[in-house]
Amino acid sequence: MQRPSILVARAVFPEVLERLRAAFDVEANQEDQVLAPAELARRLADKHGVLTTGAERIDAALLAACPRLRVVANMAVGFNNFDVDAMTAAGVQGTNTPDVLTETTADFGFALLMATARRMTEAEHFLRAGRWTQWRYDLFAGAEVHGSTLGILGMGRIGQGIARRGAHGFGMRVVYHNRSRLAPALEAQCAAQYVSKDELLAQSDHLVLVLPYSAESHHAIGPAELARMKPTATLVNIARGGIVDDAALAAALRARRIAAAGLDVFEGEPRVHPDLLAQPNVVLTPHIASATLATRRAMANKAADNLLAFFSGQPLPSPVNAPVHKKIR
Ligand code: DGY
Repeated sequence: MQRPSILVARAVFPEVLERLRAAFDVEANQEDQVLAPAELARRLADKHGVLTTGAERIDAALLAACPRLRVVANMAVGFNNFDVDAMTAAGVQGTNTPDVLTETTADFGFALLMATARRMTEAEHFLRAGRWTQWRYDLFAGAEVHGSTLGILGMGRIGQGIARRGAHGFGMRVVYHNRSRLAPALEAQCAAQYVSKDELLAQSDHLVLVLPYSAESHHAIGPAELARMKPTATLVNIARGGIVDDAALAAALRARRIAAAGLDVFEGEPRVHPDLLAQPNVVLTPHIASATLATRRAMANKAADNLLAFFSGQPLPSPVNAPVHKKIR
């Protein structure tokens, strides 16, 4: 039986690579060179599988150039880099890495909320610049977190984790909006109240975005939504770039239409809209919400588990589609 041949598209933990090498012929990219679409297609032309990150786009054009490809294991819970319909039509299995990053990402969402509300990076830049000369009653006075209203748009596993932290850790009133309402028992666990999107925008003191990116969620927060928020509100995006209209957000921050924002993801990242970079009232981080070593290791292992299960005919830990499988050739 031919050993499957796979590409590991970006650098991963060496021990994960060793697990994969024990079962497959592996082409690795430990130099961590970002592969342009044509280069990715070239490297995948003779491969049966690939371990990707959210940065590699798997679409109909790539699939047409890679007739042997049977499985794509994303090392991310989000899989908006997959054209799932094209993959299913081409008989290509996709997988992702849910669950292992839920609590870590919820921790980061909460950290970003607090850093934004309490103006931590703005204050640190001021101090490092040697501008701190005296105590002042309103020096970097921010917004209250405890006891305020936490809004969550997108109430999947990570949204629920943030709701629990807010309600049970900080005594916040939690409101949420989601495509579907949670079951009553889950709502009770999260102490969260379902509201319309308009009510969510109007009521939130701190609004956290945790919804998946899709054509429907593109610019879910744009000028009209920002105009409905309280002028004292903060906005946190740990979901995906493109959910927020970054130019509109920068304009709203500049005009103090809302108080502040915390952003871990950006439209067209790793580029960041220059108007956001110019604003003091925004905390900016480089897509690191799931980045603890333990969680990133668990994500890489889960992607490897999916590849190993796929080629040994075992049930997949986390499939995202149900294609009619092609034969290995
Ligand atoms: C995810 O898992 O989708 C993250 O954004 C990747 O870091």
